[in-house]
Amino acid sequence: MTIDRMQPEDLDDVMAIEARSFSTPWTEEMFKSELWGKTLSENLVARAVSVPGARTQVVGYTCLWIVGEELHINNIAIHPRYRRQGVAKSLLSFAFDLAKRRGARKALLEVRVSNTTAQALYQRLGFRVVGRRHQYYTSPVEDALVMAKDDL
Ligand SMILES: CC(C)(COP(=O)(O)OP(=O)(O)OC[C@H]1O[C@@H](n2cnc3c(N)ncnc32)[C@H](O)[C@@H]1OP(=O)(O)O)[C@@H](O)C(=O)NCCC(=O)NCCS
Repeated sequence: MTIDRMQPEDLDDVMAIEARSFSTPWTEEMFKSELWGKTLSENLVARAVSVPGARTQVVGYTCLWIVGEELHINNIAIHPRYRRQGVAKSLLSFAFDLAKRRGARKALLEVRVSNTTAQALYQRLGFRVVGRRHQYYTSPVEDALVMAKDDL
């Protein structure tokens, strides 16, 4: 597996994973605005390495903002077939290193209260619950837990 920056030609693969991962998936416009609209934004993809010369397959991605001392993890999803193989852990470790080099010291994110799988990932990586946002999500309406990691 390799990790590098998301390219416009990755969008079809990314959107397909997004659609299989969330009840309210990001739209193409939302991804495009991250890719082209914001200087704070960093978007990483993990690719499965195949034979030389063949098209690589996007197996996961994360969309981030690096804002001063904070890394914001705005989105992360892994293709269902590639889950539980360390892809998210690798993407986030890469993100932590990148953010640290830019001066970030802590990471923050929101996660649905019911998404215990993602919470297990974040806890494993050193995040702790630091707050709760009432009815933050729609479809279904649900609270968000705010999680933070202080020691990037
Ligand atoms: C949450 C998600 C990103 C995890 O991706 P992943 O590549 O499967 O995670 P990893 O393989 O890197 O897991 C790293 C650690 O997280 C924890 N973890 C991940 N999936 C887990 C699961 N299903 N159950 C329990 N713990 C889990 C484990 O501690 C795991 O380490 P281990 O496998 O050595 O035990 C993935 O399940 C996904 O895409 N879900 C749908 C989208 C989503 O919910 N995104 C998060 C929005 S806030």
